[in-house]
Amino acid sequence: MILNLSELKPAEKQYYLQHVIAPRPICFASTMDTAGNVNLSPFSFFNLFSSNPPIVIFSPARRVRDNTTKHSLENVMEVPEVVINIVTYDMVQQASLASCEYPKGVDEFVKAGFTKEVATVVKPPMIKEAKAKLECKVLEVKSLGEEGGAGQLVICEVICLHLNDDLLNADKKLDQRKLDLVARLGGDWYCRVTPDNLFMVAKPNTQLGIGLDTLPESIRHSKILTGNHLGQLANVHEMPIVNPYFEDEHLKNIVQYFSLNPADMEKEVHSYAAKLLDQGKVAEAWQVLLYTENN
Ligand SMILES: Cc1cc2nc3c(=O)[nH]c(=O)nc-3n(C[C@H](O)[C@H](O)[C@H](O)COP(=O)(O)O)c2cc1C
Repeated sequence: MILNLSELKPAEKQYYLQHVIAPRPICFASTMDTAGNVNLSPFSFFNLFSSNPPIVIFSPARRVRDNTTKHSLENVMEVPEVVINIVTYDMVQQASLASCEYPKGVDEFVKAGFTKEVATVVKPPMIKEAKAKLECKVLEVKSLGEEGGAGQLVICEVICLHLNDDLLNADKKLDQRKLDLVARLGGDWYCRVTPDNLFMVAKPNTQLGIGLDTLPESIRHSKILTGNHLGQLANVHEMPIVNPYFEDEHLKNIVQYFSLNPADMEKEVHSYAAKLLDQGKVAEAWQVLLYTENN
């Protein structure tokens, strides 16, 4: 299916885009009007766009339903300050409750049951229960249109970051596994970042990966190695060479067993290399593959 966005209704555009541009982190924005009324609303059109200067943007869009504007937007126009509380799993239901369309002036801290904590540099309060919060000054509000669904970018400079001590390791670095973040996807779908669904991908860093195009033909066109496997193999910065000291019992067994059948041997070797790559053992996988390449 190919969708031409200009032929879709606003609600359809929102539907398809929100499902594929996902997961999105959730900014739980605390804002205030000039009379001191506090508002608290979640926004998943939100991300980090610059670290120096430290800039985040969230977007309280004009309502698709009736093209009205959101209280959070009206508030930042009056008082250009916001606390962005990061939504974690323990608060996701309350955050969703705070998204109800309460009339202006209703304090969602009270409705959703959060405790106010005085911020250090901005007027809107922080959520005491949130584990990570950003005190921000609003630099600019950029309207992307006047119709229902039009994003209103609230461009914020982060002045101060609050982190719960229990998120930190001994060296004051954040432990990604401890944050228990949630993110929004399409419709009513959310996801939770738990330790068992986190994985690491080694950065290519300053040294360039050799690239898939330089892999030996038999590896590049393997029926067993996937794109992820080839990506790992091609991320080394120079073509590995056979290590004469490399010893591997399983490889020896494969070689002995399939000595008369090179095609099956290649399949077995590739399956074994795939297993090693799934365990992050790139150097070992290369040695295993080089054995059949060179014999
Ligand atoms: C998890 C979550 C994410 C949301 N993200 C957005 C968003 O990015 N933009 C938006 O306009 N509304 C978003 N909404 C809906 C707003 O939170 C909702 O319209 C809210 O009532 C706005 O409140 P306000 O008028 O008090 O500012 C989201 C709702 C939820 C539950």
